[in-house]
Amino acid sequence: MTSSQEALPSLYHIATTFLSACSRVLNIKSPEHAFHRTRVRDFAYAVSRDPRIAFVAFHHDDGKIGIPVKLLHAKRPLTEDERKVMKKHNEYTRNILRMVEPHGYSGLSTLAASAHDYRRKEQVVIPFPDRRQNNPYLLYVKEVLQACDAFDVLVHGRVYQPPVSIEEAIATLLESEVNFDEGLVRELGDIKRVQRRKVA
Ligand SMILES: [Fe+2]
Ligand SMILES: [Fe+2]
Repeated sequence: MTSSQEALPSLYHIATTFLSACSRVLNIKSPEHAFHRTRVRDFAYAVSRDPRIAFVAFHHDDGKIGIPVKLLHAKRPLTEDERKVMKKHNEYTRNILRMVEPHGYSGLSTLAASAHDYRRKEQVVIPFPDRRQNNPYLLYVKEVLQACDAFDVLVHGRVYQPPVSIEEAIATLLESEVNFDEGLVRELGDIKRVQRRKVA
């Protein structure tokens, strides 16, 4: 190997730099969304103690870099058409994360997309297509991401929606049509109470 080849960064290093560049773009475009994914990462680690899940949580909304700033900052509920545009961040997230998968981030796009793959309680369905149904890790990641994501949105609010109390957030999630894991939801409530006591 020549000295010039030795100086080349590895594909893993390039992929990592790419992911961090995406994160920085989102920080600039929407600090609020950047705070959201940081909190979701911290919640996810607190309930799972799994650094990989925390990493996936941090990137679950990377596709928001493709959403117009005026929608990210809208201080009102989005219209039906705007919601359709906003929903595209899931597809964008998948596309971004797929780009780094061959370079040390295997499975990242699938794990991150599970955050948005909601199933309603009344739907008796296999949560994932057949080939993935036997992957308990993926199912667990999905449960963690969905509970942490939704809990964070409720207790911290959105630009157009004030935050609710921890008790209201727990009740809202448990009464929701989405099948959130009750144990995780209650654990998130406990974690948030401890965080608030530390700040007070
Ligand atoms: Fe999202
Ligand atoms: Fe999110």
